[in-house]
Amino acid sequence: WPFFAPYVKAINELKKVRNAVILAHNYQTPEIYNCVADVVGDSFALAREATKTDADVIVQCGVHFMAETSKILNPDKTVLIPDSRAGCSLATSITAEDVRELRRKHPGVPVAVYVNTTAEVKAESDICLTSGNAVQVVESLGVPEVMVLPDQYLAMWIASQTKVKIISWHGACEVHERFTAEELRAYREADPEVTILAHPECPPDVIAEADFTGSTAKLADYVKLKKPKKVVMVTECSMADNIMSEAPDVEFVKPCNLCPHMKRITLPNILESLVHMREEVLVDPMIADRARASVERMVNLKI
Ligand code: 13P
Ligand code: SF4
Repeated sequence: WPFFAPYVKAINELKKVRNAVILAHNYQTPEIYNCVADVVGDSFALAREATKTDADVIVQCGVHFMAETSKILNPDKTVLIPDSRAGCSLATSITAEDVRELRRKHPGVPVAVYVNTTAEVKAESDICLTSGNAVQVVESLGVPEVMVLPDQYLAMWIASQTKVKIISWHGACEVHERFTAEELRAYREADPEVTILAHPECPPDVIAEADFTGSTAKLADYVKLKKPKKVVMVTECSMADNIMSEAPDVEFVKPCNLCPHMKRITLPNILESLVHMREEVLVDPMIADRARASVERMVNLKI
């Protein structure tokens, strides 16, 4: 705390001067999540909040695709990311040309892209989806077949929840693909009462061991509402750290995999970002217009 306190104070003061809002993902470290963020949530909540804010400046504490989504939704605002190297293995797994090629291969099949994609890829899609609304978005299209890109595991999980035929891609999250069914079985054997919660970016054999699968916000809600005695959070490390303070009676087991990209965001670089108004996230206006149609289609769905 002696280290964090001056940063927290300076960031919160400068936020007012700049009329800035800090949008922080659930995987940000507890000092960011608890002490400087104005809005915390999963990718869907952050995209939805980005449509509502009247701040002049958005500081995105998360990875680059999240900041791009905020810029797409707010072309007239300044969107900053404290470290633009904060990438995502899913976003780099597919290009706009890959999507065009898939459309040529599967003519007439609509393309739903995970929000974990670049603006160029979103611009080639019909609708966006997140782990919090994936099945509903796919079913909202009212067709027998949908392409869900680029996360192969999220696509498999969606396919297990719907009758719609899913065509997928070979992307994967470098954090969630590392969990194994074996390690989860070991937790269950050690304590049969344990509740296992998994993110849908995990491989199917890992999800098969879980009691509940959902987005980071849905995992947090599960813990806060159901208050299981002991919980295994099969997702990024900071998730459990952040919910712990809101669910003090729950014991957390953390098979902890860090997202190195999320961890590029720190209190010192958030402060620098606000002091120097950098690093500004820009999206080509032509790309942004097309990507916005896809993101807004998702945000406006009544689901
Ligand atoms: P959520 O939308 O569930 O927060 O997931 C984002 C993400 O990057 C998970 O790895
Ligand atoms: Fe991307 Fe995985 Fe990190 Fe989420 S946890 S930002 S999907 S690499």
